[in-house]
Amino acid sequence: MVFDKNNLKNLAEKYGTPLYVYEGDLILQRYHELYNFIPWKKLQIYYAMKANYNIAILKLLEKEGANIDAVSPGDILMAMEAGFTKERILFTANKITNEEMHEVQKLGVLFNIGSISRLEKYGQSYPGSEVCIRFNPDVVAGENKNVATGGENSKFGIFLEKVDDVVNICNHHNLKVVGIHEHTGSGIPETVQMMQGMKNILNLITPKRFPDLRFVDFGGGFKVPYHPDEKRLDYHLFGKEVVTIFSEFCQSYGKELEMYFEPGKYLVAESGNLIVEVTEIKQNPGKVIIGTNSGFPQLIRPMFYGAYHHIINLSNPEGPLKEYDIVGNICESGDCFAVDRELPEIREGDFLVIQNAGAYCYSMGGVYNLRAMPAEVLMVDGKDQLVRKRLSNQELIKSIVDESC
Ligand code: LLP
Repeated sequence: MVFDKNNLKNLAEKYGTPLYVYEGDLILQRYHELYNFIPWKKLQIYYAMKANYNIAILKLLEKEGANIDAVSPGDILMAMEAGFTKERILFTANKITNEEMHEVQKLGVLFNIGSISRLEKYGQSYPGSEVCIRFNPDVVAGENKNVATGGENSKFGIFLEKVDDVVNICNHHNLKVVGIHEHTGSGIPETVQMMQGMKNILNLITPKRFPDLRFVDFGGGFKVPYHPDEKRLDYHLFGKEVVTIFSEFCQSYGKELEMYFEPGKYLVAESGNLIVEVTEIKQNPGKVIIGTNSGFPQLIRPMFYGAYHHIINLSNPEGPLKEYDIVGNICESGDCFAVDRELPEIREGDFLVIQNAGAYCYSMGGVYNLRAMPAEVLMVDGKDQLVRKRLSNQELIKSIVDESC
């Protein structure tokens, strides 16, 4: 769904650019959609807040009854700030320090442990606790190699073959395994790959190995289209298949378990727009370069992953099509949002909208070159609300100087 373009233009004028605008209604639509697609009574959605931790988005999902996939103590504190109780948060630990382990244990949040080494340390420190165990699903899939999480070269998850070591360690420390987890990758292009990861994990689980399970968590990775020609995956069919497989599994396990998913992109990617303003047009011998008042620290996916983000010209939508490179204001040649992109004629002062900017855009941002991150606006029910302001240059510098010793 695309925003009403007039709305975006008004918001750009009202709040200034660069500006992130999120469509809250679309986030809620995607959230409820998953419950329709996957008709399992005990389905729980854990929002992967790493995708976008804006507190207004967290509160929106909190009110709807979502849960949280957290990956750091900071994530947990932020989620709690937004109103999530400890019971609604799962902490997926990855290369954490002992200090972080103790901090999270004090907060009372359930650990999802993905390495033998951490499981040993956790068991020694907190015998008798409940845990979730993260296995590596042995499937390599994702939008690109940086976001494929399974397989033998991955730093994540315990190998399937180590299942009996896991059982022994847990027995030794009297750890009660209440959940089993896997996450295959992000933006998984085919549902059959997700399904394979799920089957591999379910094959491991027997009542003898894990008698105390409450849930199985199949991670995130639901893909959304980034290109206008890209088709949506059929999650309706996927959901039906998942329920068939899971209900057979639960029958053989002897108990109807909860099913968790941890989507990030699916819930928030499409809701986001980054509005930028054209500051300069440079005519090179072979191409026209469009300079904007943003850059890769504010939206890094094109530069970092070669990701495609659709761009529209808000100010001249009917102009004749021309080819452009759209670049940012950072002192690096790789600072580019799009190469050889056809767009309606661009003039200085035009507003461009970089779409699908709701997931892993603001949250992966920074202030390289010392420009503050854009403000963020959330639209719900047609009403806009500033949910995070942009620091002035003075405030930005003060925040850095204040942190200095
Ligand atoms: N669960 C776990 C354990 C994860 O590691 C992730 C994502 C998710 C759930 C949510 O995955 P999603 O549904 O959002 O695909 N920055 C990259 C994506 C990194 C994903 C990291 N982990 C990007 O911009 O494409």
